[in-house]
Amino acid sequence: MDYSRQISVVGSLNLDFIHNVDHLPQPGETITARSLKTDFGGKGANQAIAAARAGASVTLIGALGADSHGERYRAFLTSEGILTSSITELDDTTPTGSACILVSNEGENCIIVTPGANGCLSPAIIESHAHHIQNANILLLQLEIPLETAQRAAVIARQANTRIIINPSPWTDSFKLSEWEVDYAIVNESEARSLTGIEELSESRLNIWIQSHKLNALVITQGARPTLLIRKNVPALKIPPPKVQAVDTVGAGDSFAGHFAHAIAEGCPLEVAVRRGNAAGAAATQKAGAQNAIPNRTEIFELLDANSASKLYQ
Ligand code: RIB
Repeated sequence: MDYSRQISVVGSLNLDFIHNVDHLPQPGETITARSLKTDFGGKGANQAIAAARAGASVTLIGALGADSHGERYRAFLTSEGILTSSITELDDTTPTGSACILVSNEGENCIIVTPGANGCLSPAIIESHAHHIQNANILLLQLEIPLETAQRAAVIARQANTRIIINPSPWTDSFKLSEWEVDYAIVNESEARSLTGIEELSESRLNIWIQSHKLNALVITQGARPTLLIRKNVPALKIPPPKVQAVDTVGAGDSFAGHFAHAIAEGCPLEVAVRRGNAAGAAATQKAGAQNAIPNRTEIFELLDANSASKLYQ
């Protein structure tokens, strides 16, 4: 096996119930959805799908319920070429995780996650699949599973010299970067404020912040605005994503993370990994849903081609 392309993802799997609504509801308001679609989702599985569609060999360590959703989900991941023997099936009292997603006419969303099986992904389960992390080139983590479980995976990876990328989302104040040894962090703007304690995210402040942290790079995605790449002893870079007509931003961050991880596994420079991540995130906003919208390698290269400023960085 070519381990330079091997990515291990430890994270969540959800069934997404996506409601299209005219506007997001206010407290106490009842609204009627225009339509309801289901899609496979969950930040862990979305990122695994993105890395696999980028061309990586992917192992997903996660948990599903012993229900029909879980069964269908496993079959779908297998059809995407993802190794699923590392996904634990829980007993039939624990349902597969789910997410209720509202998407407004403006493409804004809000999400309620019911963890189900994801909440039962324990450090002991991770231990039993440690060899996947130890043999991988990259470990990709998010925080939609218990924090101690993600942290256990990070410790196993660190001891095996597997590089670690974390997307600390959904944010929790219990996440203390100083207690983790990770190589790269990918955050959106609000996560960046919480992570760094910097309210005004200026490049000069972020450059100072990273000097006193173990991270090799902090990547801050900003939707349609340029992604910030912050490294030690190198000026911050602002890397604009390709311009697209966005219809739904659900899963765009996950699409970025999976394609970014694959580019790092391939040995691409960070700027290139960010450009590919940008293209993957932008492409994912052009279609409804999470995994339904995640592009493959050819699609992001076409988008980069159409965007001449990014062409050199493929
Ligand atoms: O990042 C998008 C994902 O967040 C959705 O697929 C949903 O399942 C929630 O986990």
